Amino acid sequence: MTLLEPDLVHEDLGATWRSARPRPAGRHLDSAACSRQSHRVLEAAAHHARHEAELGGYVAEATADDLLQQGRSVIGGLVGMAAADVAFVESAQAALVALLSGWRLPAGTRVACLPGEYAPNVAQLRAAGLAPEPLPVDDLGRADLDGVARLLATDPPRFVHLTHIGSHRGIVQPAREVAALCREAGVPLVLDAAQSLGHVDTDLGADVVYSTSRKWLAGPRGVGVLCARPAVTARLTPVLPEPADVPPLRAFESGEAHVAGRVGLVLAVGEHVAAGPDRVRARLAALGRAGREVLEGVAGWRVVEPRDEPTATTTLRPPDGVDVVTTRARLLTEHGIVTTAIGPERAPGEMTGPVLRVSPHLDATVEDLEALAAAL
Ligand SMILES: Cc1ncc(COP(=O)(O)O)c(C=O)c1O
Repeated sequence: MTLLEPDLVHEDLGATWRSARPRPAGRHLDSAACSRQSHRVLEAAAHHARHEAELGGYVAEATADDLLQQGRSVIGGLVGMAAADVAFVESAQAALVALLSGWRLPAGTRVACLPGEYAPNVAQLRAAGLAPEPLPVDDLGRADLDGVARLLATDPPRFVHLTHIGSHRGIVQPAREVAALCREAGVPLVLDAAQSLGHVDTDLGADVVYSTSRKWLAGPRGVGVLCARPAVTARLTPVLPEPADVPPLRAFESGEAHVAGRVGLVLAVGEHVAAGPDRVRARLAALGRAGREVLEGVAGWRVVEPRDEPTATTTLRPPDGVDVVTTRARLLTEHGIVTTAIGPERAPGEMTGPVLRVSPHLDATVEDLEALAAAL
């Protein structure tokens, strides 16, 4: 029995985040799938779309040039890179595809990734002709640094692909340490930050960082980013080169795009930075801890993550005989609680069964988590 209410930090951030966006229809505990945009982000995207109707799509895009460049600069700052190292794409998957298609590595090239790698990423690596091999990990699926060092010293892959926080498990990988080991070994590190940008620190020394707008940054859907250091970009061959006055990575930025969505993402990133990334991370971590305290053992559901893992995401294994997909549907239709049911096919190298994912953003309260516990 919980005797004390779990502590959340930076209540002001929760209140500001809540008042900055439309009222949720129920309890939204699903930001690892898709977060809720703010009024300003929604309005900026709508404003750009209106501009397109008034001025013409390409004239409107030109008027947004400075804003988009500021966005590249701020996003670059979040991953320790420059504006020239940032390209807007359509999603995290689109970023990985753009990277692999430009890299043009020979078929059969060995690359390393986690056993718990997001299955669509493994599929993309294979589709590019690469041969993914597992990184050594501990019982939780966290990279084992001694093992990684040994692998890099004895049989280095062409690059390491590390998913910073999984889709199926709120565990943070030791990306800074892996980046340092990779740098020492001269092996590029590609970081999938789809679940980590806006959630935990992503300025860690990776050579490539890619991510998506709609999750922890709370930007629009249909937008993603590919960030690559110049040494990597120099090895990429685009289908069509960019004009000489544009940074080379821009050749991987899709020409036809949801520009209004990119504008919205830039606003969302601005809101994230204004809130203070450190404070955001601290509150998200506190929400994760609170969720695990409130949910562990409720009706036989078991929390996968260590209680103090510094993420907001909690995944729950069901008790025997309870179906996760049915539970997720019941939570939504009977209680208005939004969560995600994740089947083992999402990370088949690691998952032994389905989990229910709970991923609150800054506006969530302990009462939301207790309501979920009661509904379970
Ligand atoms: C860890 C991880 N990588 C990549 C992706 C793919 O992101 P997108 O849907 O933007 O392509 C996701 C999406 O859920 C994810 O969780």
